[in-house]
Parts: sequence; C-alpha cells; structure tokens
Amino acid sequence: MSEPASPDPDASTDAEVFLDAARTRIDAYLHEVLPPTDGPSARLAEAMAYSILAGGKRLRPALAQAACRAVGGDEERVLPFGAALEMIHTYSLIHDDLPAMDDDDLRRGRPTSHKVYGEALAVLAGDALHTLAFEVLLVRTEPADLARQAALELARAAGPHGMVGGQVEDLGAAGREPDEETLLLIQGGKTAALLRAACRGGALIGGGDEREVEAAGRYGRHLGFAFQMVDDVLDVTGTAETLGKTPGKDEAEHRMTWVAFEGVEATKARAEQEIGWAVEAIRDLPGRALLAGLARFVTRRDR
Ligand code: IPE
Ligand code: IPE
Ligand code: MG
Ligand code: MG
Ligand code: MG
Repeated sequence: MSEPASPDPDASTDAEVFLDAARTRIDAYLHEVLPPTDGPSARLAEAMAYSILAGGKRLRPALAQAACRAVGGDEERVLPFGAALEMIHTYSLIHDDLPAMDDDDLRRGRPTSHKVYGEALAVLAGDALHTLAFEVLLVRTEPADLARQAALELARAAGPHGMVGGQVEDLGAAGREPDEETLLLIQGGKTAALLRAACRGGALIGGGDEREVEAAGRYGRHLGFAFQMVDDVLDVTGTAETLGKTPGKDEAEHRMTWVAFEGVEATKARAEQEIGWAVEAIRDLPGRALLAGLARFVTRRDR
C-alpha cells in the first residue's frame, strides 16, 4: 500500500463547526420523525426516544451530510438517510448493552435502556428503531430510485455481512488469543460497515457518480476502522464521565480488541495510519477538505 496522505491541518476547526451544525440538523429531524410519546404504544415511543435523543456524537449522519456536500449535493436531502443511520446505530447500541451481550449499565451518560425499561422493551425499542429507519428513508427520500439504492446500502451494512455479522464475530472471539485477521473481520463488520454506508449513501443521494461514491465508501471504511481502534483505546484510557459509558468493559468481558492485541500506543498509531488511507481515498473528490477535517476528529476525540 502507498504512503498515507496527511489530513489538512486547517480543516479541523471547520470540521468541528460542521459537526455541530450537522448534529443540530439531525436532532431536529429526529424529533420530527419519531413516534409521539403520547400516542399509541406510548411506552415504546418513550423507550425509543430515551435512547436516541440521549445525545451521541451523531457521527454517522454527519458523515452522510459531509459526503453529500463533498460531491456538490445539498445536505438537507440526506437527512432521512442520516436519521435512518442514527436509528440503526442506536438500535445496535441498545442491543449491544443487553446482559446477553456486553451487559452495560451506562450509555450516552444515562442508565442503559434495559435498566430503565426492562430487557423485553429494550429489545423491542431496538427492533422498532431498526424498522422505522427503513420506513423514514424510503418514504422521505426522493427520487424513489435513490431511496431504493440507499436502503440497499443500509441493509447490507447493517445485516449478516455487516454490523450484525461483526457483533456475532465479536461475541465468538471473546477469550481467544487476538489476531489481526479476526480483528479486521470483527471491526470491519460491527463498525466500519455502517460508516462506509454513511459515506456511500451520502455521496449517492448528493448526486455523486460511481467513482465518487466508491471513493467516499473507501474513506468511510478506513475511518470506521480508525474509529473502532480509538473506541478500544478509550475503553482503557477514558473515564465514565467523559465517555458516557463504563470504561474497562472490554477487558472485563475478555473482548478481542486492538489494545489486547498490541497495546494502546500501537493501536493509536494504527488508527492514524487508517486516517491517512481514508484521506488518500478521497484525494480526487472536489469537496474533500471537510471530510479530511472530520477524519482528524476521529483520532483526536476523547469520547
Ligand atoms: C459506539 O459508537 C459504538 C461503536 C461502534 C464504537 P459511538 O461512539 O458513535 O456512539 P455515540 O453515538 O456517540 O453514542
Ligand atoms: C459495538 O462495539 C459496536 C456496535 C455495533 C454496537 P462496542 O461494544 O465496542 O461499543 P461500545 O464500546 O459498547 O460503545
Ligand atoms: Mg460490543
Ligand atoms: Mg459494548
Ligand atoms: Mg467499545
């Protein structure tokens, strides 16, 4: 592989401003599309809102908006897709926290869904977010052919060859001696697939051509690996107060992580290398500066 490119240092401030604006846009949109908490199945609607409106970095919808902009599209058009990404991501977190999986008590600075609503409703709130994601995307994205293509991206990224498959590999690898091949399989599925889809879908809905969508997807996949590497590092170096989730869980649950494989410093270096490759992948995109700035944010974050 060739020498990784460096992100543009001036782009990071712009990226933070963009992230804030993207978060505000998606939060307002989520309020619009979630079921009302005073309608039928009020307790379910409440449980859905509890997890998805608890904050979170909104990185996936922000990436979709940035990729849309990078190909010259208007980011408003990608909001249904962004909301769908965040719903699927939040469903994955609710289920990831269940006693049957990571058994976590804290998420986004709040007690986890199953602690508040019980396991059955937590499972169902996750299920409901999963299906609502596709409804919102399909009903609200124009034209219908783009909606179909974006839905396919999302379904593939979230399913057996993507997030769910990665989660299964993650559970199956617990307690085993870490190796690079398995780590790439786990993290490519559980995390990088959805980040890749966020970028591909954003570029697609923004009107990007095949080459641009492909470049955005390669960027997103490398970024996804870097993101999960940093997540593994933060599990060791972070605090509950900053992370909004309990640190030290990976070791406690004998998870196969990069840190278990090669330690904190080597993992950080590997994440930087992935960021370099991410930036290199979008070298020919006209609007690459913003995406490059967002890539920097991924390795500099503390939560
Ligand atoms: C946590 O994702 C799970 C991973 C895939 C690492 P985020 O770190 O994006 O969580 P939120 O959305 O900000 O809460
Ligand atoms: C989970 O990875 C990724 C998902 C698909 C939910 P982790 O188990 O490392 O995520 P955290 O650390 O609990 O957020
Ligand atoms: Mg997990
Ligand atoms: Mg977890
Ligand atoms: Mg983690």
